[in-house]
Amino acid sequence: DIHKEIEELKSLIRDVPDFPKPGIVFKDITPLLHKPWAFQKVIDYIGNRYIGAGVEIVAGIESRGFILASALAYKIGAGLAIIRKPGKLPYKTVSASYTLEYGQDTIEIHEDAITKGTKVVLIDDVLATGGTMSAAIDLVEKLGGNIVSVDFLLELTFLGGRKRILEKGYPVFSLIKF
Ligand code: PRP
Ligand code: MG
Repeated sequence: DIHKEIEELKSLIRDVPDFPKPGIVFKDITPLLHKPWAFQKVIDYIGNRYIGAGVEIVAGIESRGFILASALAYKIGAGLAIIRKPGKLPYKTVSASYTLEYGQDTIEIHEDAITKGTKVVLIDDVLATGGTMSAAIDLVEKLGGNIVSVDFLLELTFLGGRKRILEKGYPVFSLIKF
């Protein structure tokens, strides 16, 4: 059944202590990606929710979000929009900044990546504080995209990111929760 399969997928997430800094336990998704059936299951679970939904664009966030976004776009027959770290995109961009523990970060999207009214699914690998995804939502909103859902492979529930996304008025889906 589905709960057992999700538990199996969850068991493929590796804890790496003291990465990237002492005291942080990093959730490493690479063992899951290494297993053909597991990666396929993840994309099928997320993608099957969009059968007949008319999603036009999947937007993924650099860099780990790209892994999921491109497979999902292929699976559901949508286009792919890439949200990148600053200075990487060649054409005209719009940008949004978000706060980190210390300082600020910025992400960008091409101004023509999404047109007004386009049905968009946003995806990233991890929902932690929700700062990255909030900024990504701001970008899609600036371009007038119609956000259908905000999806994650895994959610660190104790960091409260979900509330932040819900407050922006969009549904949140995560396959695996810690
Ligand atoms: C990680 C992760 C998410 C984000 C989640 O990305 O891939 O994008 O942090 O954190 P938040 O909810 O607190 O914003 P990171 O910025 O480490 O870059 P990467 O994807 O390039 O590894
Ligand atoms: Mg990331």
